[in-house]
Parts: sequence; structure tokens; C-alpha cells
Amino acid sequence: MPVLVVGADDRVRAVNTALVDILGGELVGKHYISALRQPAVVESITTLRGGGPASNVRYSSRDGAKDTTYRVTISAAGDDIVLSFEDLTASEDAGKMRRDFVANVSHELRTPLTALMGFIETLGGAARNDADARDRFLAIMAHEASRMTRLVDDLLSLSRVEEDERVRPREHVDLSALLGSVIKGLEPQAQEAGVTVILDAAETTEMVPGDAGQLVQVFTNLIENGIKYGAQGKRLNVTVHPSGTDLRLRSKAIQISVADKGEGIASHHIARLTERFYRVDSHRSREVGGTGLGLAIVKHIVNRHRGRLQIESELGQGTTVSVFLPI
Ligand SMILES: Nc1ncnc2c1ncn2[C@@H]1O[C@H](COP(=O)(O)OP(=O)(O)O)[C@@H](O)[C@H]1O
Ligand SMILES: [Mg+2]
Repeated sequence: MPVLVVGADDRVRAVNTALVDILGGELVGKHYISALRQPAVVESITTLRGGGPASNVRYSSRDGAKDTTYRVTISAAGDDIVLSFEDLTASEDAGKMRRDFVANVSHELRTPLTALMGFIETLGGAARNDADARDRFLAIMAHEASRMTRLVDDLLSLSRVEEDERVRPREHVDLSALLGSVIKGLEPQAQEAGVTVILDAAETTEMVPGDAGQLVQVFTNLIENGIKYGAQGKRLNVTVHPSGTDLRLRSKAIQISVADKGEGIASHHIARLTERFYRVDSHRSREVGGTGLGLAIVKHIVNRHRGRLQIESELGQGTTVSVFLPI
């Protein structure tokens, strides 16, 4: 924590290296007014000198393009005055993220809810005795309700995944068996979309340290995305590559890739895909039952496994998403 001490002669008596990082060097010996400059800070020191109480003030520093806000605690220690600077940026960013998240969740829930309310009203009134309309509306209502269920399920799994992200999984998982069963489970969806899923895990015999349930979630989402958004390519290749040294992870790792030949993703979207609720086309995502949380969940799970996620895509060529897991 950056700290600065003003001596009895009102000059800066000492600073630590963390403080030099934010205010620069050569402060020692300067009068506190010229060293600190910001009126709120100067005023608090003057108050303290005049026998007033210790206080907290905000202090903003501008370092290149980045604004940093500190809470400065100003208190007396004998004849000295001690200023300690606490960086508020991280907690303010976290606060903003939390507010954005709540706003997003509310928005996502509001749409299906509004639809449901509308149909309930119509069924109670105008369409009360219209059997055809009733059936049609009930089907739409069931669809909206299942959308809300999916959203709540994804929110719960996101919070669960975040909770145990620090604890590395201890089980060992047979990847090719796991992938085989995930693909089998998605078979109806693939058939409906006209996609053939091809698993190539021929050379894999290794057991990978991992959490089987969570890895099922990872590959279900990636393969489902490939089916939903890459359908026009007709084929989806799921490949387990022979393990090798991964330079980025600095360890031996196994790479599992899910590759489609679909429409691809424009490069400016790629870095943001793992953000919560980020979609290239939210209308389309909702239409195919997406919540926009899938890749956020995937990323947390891969982090928990100390692995990494790589998304490569080219418009019109297709998308390859790879998971690297250390073994
Ligand atoms: N294989 C893919 N091809 C094209 N776009 C994709 C692919 N996978 C993911 N995306 C894009 O990334 C977005 C985020 O994916 P995800 O977090 O799984 O959300 P969801 O599937 O619920 O929409 C999708 O809405 C889609 O726009
Ligand atoms: Mg998805």
C-alpha cells in the first residue's frame, strides 16, 4: 500500500516505493501542498494540523490512459501525519460488473415474462373459449417458460462454477468415453439440424485430471454451439489430439478441438465471446434456445482445470474451439 509521511515541518519526510509508483519520485523534502496538490487532501492535512480529526478523502491520479482512484486515509502519528492510499479501482470495477450483471439478468427474464403475462391475459379474456388459440398459446407459453428455466439453470451453474474455481479437480476422466456420451446425447439435435458429428479420439488412452460433470458441461456447450451456429457446414469434427507440451501452459497438455465449417465469427467478436450474455446475434441465439452464458461457464470450468480455451474463426470458413487441459 502506498504510504507518505509528512513531518512536523510540513514537508514530506518519507515515502515508500509503492507511492513513488503513483506520485513519482523526488517528493521528499517538498512542502505537502506542492507535493500533493489535490485540494481535498491538502485541506484534510490542514484540518488535522489544526487539531481536527483524522479523515478519508478520494484521490484520483491519471497515469497515461488509465484513471486510478484511491481512498486516502490521513491520520496523525505523533508530530507526523501519515497518508495511506488504498486503490479503489478494482472494487469499483467489481461493483460496476455486478450492476451490469443484474441489469442483464433482469432484461433476459423480463422478455419471456412479458410474453407469458400477455398470454395469460388473453387466455383469461378474449381467447377463453377458443380451443385452437388456447393450444397455440399454451405451446408458446411452454416455450417461454423453458427459456426461463434454462436461464436460471445456467445462472446457477455459473455461480457454482465460480465458487469452486480455486479448487483443482481431483478425479481422473476418460475423455474419449466422455466425449462419446456427450455426442450421443446431442444426436437428436444434430440430426434435426442436419449435422454429422465425427469423433476422432483414436490415439487417446490417457486419463485426464478433471471433473467429469463439468467437462460434460464444457463439451456439451461447445458441440451444441457447433450444431446451432455451424450447421450450414454439415459436419462437426470433435478431435482429441495426442498430448504434447503446451508452451502457454508450460506443461504437458491434451488438446480437444470442436471444429465446424459454418459461417464463422468476425474477429472483433472473438475476444468477447466468453463474457456473460455476449452474443454475436442475440435474436438468433434466443431463437435457438441460447442464454449467452454457455461460453462464460466453459471459460470458468477450463480455468478451474488450469487449462486454456482457444477460439479460432474465419468468416465463411468456420470456427474451431479448442480446450487445452494439463495432464
Ligand atoms: N461455433 C460457432 N459458430 C459461430 N458462432 C458461435 C459459435 N459458437 C459460439 N458462437 C457465438 O458465440 C455466442 C456465445 O456463445 P454461448 O456463450 O455458448 O451462448 P449461446 O449458445 O447461449 O448463445 C453465440 O451466441 C454465438 O453468437
Ligand atoms: Mg452455447
